[in-house]
Amino acid sequence: MDTVKQFPDPQSMAAAAARRFVDLAAVNVKAKDQFNVVLAGGSTPRLMYELLASTHRGAVEWENVCFFWGDERSVPGDHPDSNYRMARVAMLDHLALPAENVHPIPGEREPDEAAREYASILRSHFKEAVTPEFDLVLLGMGEDGHTASLFPYTDALQIRDQPVTANYVPRMDTWRITLTIPVINAAHNVLFLVSGQSKADALRAVLAGPYSPRKYPAQFISPQNGELKWYVDDAAAALL
Ligand code: 6PG
Repeated sequence: MDTVKQFPDPQSMAAAAARRFVDLAAVNVKAKDQFNVVLAGGSTPRLMYELLASTHRGAVEWENVCFFWGDERSVPGDHPDSNYRMARVAMLDHLALPAENVHPIPGEREPDEAAREYASILRSHFKEAVTPEFDLVLLGMGEDGHTASLFPYTDALQIRDQPVTANYVPRMDTWRITLTIPVINAAHNVLFLVSGQSKADALRAVLAGPYSPRKYPAQFISPQNGELKWYVDDAAAALL
């Protein structure tokens, strides 16, 4: 069931998201000794990641957590724009994590090659499952309603037979690598984090407007057997 939880500010939203991560990690580690989570990029999740590496550092059995990414810019992992770098600085560097638990998208590779390589990493981790089933997928949303690197009217929106794809984004004249819609929708839990006044128009369109997912790709996200939650702050929810 989709639920939208509204918080007064980014700080309380991040705190709630961190608590949800801790809760889901405990349930999954207890059930199967592993918690497979997809991290979101951009800037919104940073505060949540910082809380996980500080306030909640002792509350998670990090050795059982495996980190993946929902998308990556076509840059090396030490580039200021790298989603991997953001999560590493905000969280991963502060955790006692086995290196083999961290699976960044190889953004330094040529985009199609990076997508093939990541698909191979997913196949190996998920024992050749046709569609990997993540325990938690964290997502942000752009002002245009994109999520991960599923941008409006781009080719990645049509991909249904690959878990990962390279995606050229004409508006930014850049390549991205992104998980595809079927993989995100196969997740057991999907959690959007959306904050700030700049997202208010897109959030109203996505949550309350007509179904037009090629224009607002976040509308494609509808886990078939999982739970979808939106954590939004007052500023982003101002038009709901
Ligand atoms: C990226 C993200 C992207 C992000 C949104 C929101 O690589 O940029 O994956 O989907 O979540 O663009 O970004 P902000 O959190 O910075 O607003």
